[in-house]
Amino acid sequence: MTDAATVFVSRRLPGGALDRLGERHDVEVWPERVPPPASELAARAADSDGLLTLLTDAVTADVIAAAPRLRAISNYAVGVDNIDVAAATERGIPVGHTPDVLTDTTADLALALMLGASRRLVEGDALVRRGEWLTWEADLLMGHDLHHSTVGVVGMGRIGRAVARRVEGFGAEAIYSGRREGVPLEELLERSDFVTLHCPLTPDTRGLIDARALARMKPTAYLVNTARGPIVDTAALIAALEKGEIAGAALDVTDPEPLPGGHPLLEAPNLLVLPHLGSATHATRERMADLAVDNLLAGLSGARMPHCVNPEVYG
Ligand code: DGY
Repeated sequence: MTDAATVFVSRRLPGGALDRLGERHDVEVWPERVPPPASELAARAADSDGLLTLLTDAVTADVIAAAPRLRAISNYAVGVDNIDVAAATERGIPVGHTPDVLTDTTADLALALMLGASRRLVEGDALVRRGEWLTWEADLLMGHDLHHSTVGVVGMGRIGRAVARRVEGFGAEAIYSGRREGVPLEELLERSDFVTLHCPLTPDTRGLIDARALARMKPTAYLVNTARGPIVDTAALIAALEKGEIAGAALDVTDPEPLPGGHPLLEAPNLLVLPHLGSATHATRERMADLAVDNLLAGLSGARMPHCVNPEVYG
């Protein structure tokens, strides 16, 4: 193989995209179900020209500094908070990500979480399975309506807008809060029946939904998070759920992640929690793999990555 680069891929991916990568380059794929430990990732990166990572892999400034040959990083996610992009940029290394292909799939899941929490789907299913469905009851597992509610969308990017389009189809009103547009966050929290998070995790958004923010929400409102766990202060959320300050929370992402069995969050009432499934459909995860491989192939060949978060490296 001429001009073949050495590439480390931190997990197997759905579909055939990695075969395409393997036809062109020398590829090692981490074979385990769990991520490579930090020391293994660092050791593999040290000998690699290209990395294809998942959101569970911390590509820190130290990892990048210890990888003298590294010339392309491709993340199998739209979010890149697991990568020190500033350190990569300083070295002139392009960082790729996978926007667009997961927008509708993630927005669909946000709607599923809104309805799942407010219409008490998990509790209803559990009640039937326990054999406790006695009869039709006028006040059994009553919830709150999504239709004609006010949905507060925090973050006005692709996924936030896709969620707004969907809830408008339910006859709900979508209000936004973004960095530069929309209503102030305080107003959104006070007016919304559902607060749904769609901002990236940055130093500014870490802990954005803290005790004060939760206290501003209506006691009948739901918090939905399909973005990143640390945007919500977990201890504050547990307290708010225990005190009944909000009606419930539906989380696809948590802090910590994964959430270990026995974590205090799992003891909190009115909580629906999923293991970070926002983009988890067959079609979308395969498209993400295609995009991640396209980014890496371009980056390794010196061409512009189709989806690069630090295009300034191209001058
Ligand atoms: C992302 O892409 O950032 C999601 O969290 C996983 O698809």
